[in-house]
Amino acid sequence: MTIADDSPPDGPIAVEVKGLTKTFGSLTAVDGLDMVVPEGVIYGFLGSNGSGKTTTIRMMCGLLTPDGGEGRTLGYDIFTDGPQIKQRVGYMTQRFSLYEELSVRENLDFMARMYGVTDRRARLAEILEEYGLEKRAEQIAGTLSGGWKQRLALAAAMLHKPKLLLLDEPTAGVDPAARRDFWDRIRGMTRKGVTVLVSTHYMDEAVQCDHICFILNGRKLIDAPAADVPRLSGLHTMRIEGSNLAALADELNGQFGVEQVARFGDALHISGLDAQALEQAVAPYRSREGVKVLERPTGLEEVFIHFIDKATKDAAARDAAKEEAA
Ligand SMILES: Nc1ncnc2c1ncn2[C@@H]1O[C@H](COP(=O)(O)OP(=O)(O)OP(=O)(O)O)[C@@H](O)[C@H]1O
Ligand SMILES: [Mg+2]
Repeated sequence: MTIADDSPPDGPIAVEVKGLTKTFGSLTAVDGLDMVVPEGVIYGFLGSNGSGKTTTIRMMCGLLTPDGGEGRTLGYDIFTDGPQIKQRVGYMTQRFSLYEELSVRENLDFMARMYGVTDRRARLAEILEEYGLEKRAEQIAGTLSGGWKQRLALAAAMLHKPKLLLLDEPTAGVDPAARRDFWDRIRGMTRKGVTVLVSTHYMDEAVQCDHICFILNGRKLIDAPAADVPRLSGLHTMRIEGSNLAALADELNGQFGVEQVARFGDALHISGLDAQALEQAVAPYRSREGVKVLERPTGLEEVFIHFIDKATKDAAARDAAKEEAA
């Protein structure tokens, strides 16, 4: 039950992995993953905690050796060409990985040396200006706010002008204004031809991506252009507004044609795969006083809820079958 758009991309490819697998002891963290990241896109890499995003990104960077599969990043083999890949990609780790006790300038200078940036002084001045960090250049990194730390980390990842940026949950714990600024920067970069792979938990960020890859327990559930995901999911959605939504949700849950009932602010979003059955389920509410039933295009969020739910149920059914067989 994977939604995938299997048509090969028209243009050049930044990252391609096939059958990528990584195990830690008895845990298969990444399980036969196929991914193609076309050049120049914002590629959203989604999945709940522990689904294997960081492990996958580290393998793409040549920082972690896979146990199976194959892959190329910017044309370099992820098994053998780690050093070449590291020189060419910008990687922003999930946790702040710069030196907390060094100043902003010292951190950037250190990174510039690591990457062997030529004309370091000029590049540093340029990047400090580009990221609005001049006034904070002498500030100790550990004393920066979350948003400024994130901006510094992004500046550091861009010092050597990589063609590919791998961003691992870059906006976690950052306030909405800083997140907006961050996404503006990301979009600006892709306009200049940089490819960006970004992992996130935020659904409003998923909407900003050109392409979505959604994984759960190391396996791919969705892999398609973001705009196509709702249609490919086959889900239909209705929105119900009214008071006492909790009671309404209880009534609707489990009804024929209703696959899921999700609360969105002051409304319920009811989704199902069979449009007719869904309409029949919500029809009685159309005439109920104080309740409004509206058509609504299915959004990414409904699709994600549906897939996580379905995968969880599938896994439970598998476990139950295993227990029965034992
Ligand atoms: N070095 C390791 N040793 C043992 N288990 C690991 C190791 N690294 C990751 N794992 C496990 O592999 C699974 C995938 O982890 P990973 O960090 O890739 O997930 P993630 O999608 O990045 O999660 P999060 O959203 O929390 O960052 C998890 O169950 C994790 O505990
Ligand atoms: Mg992670």
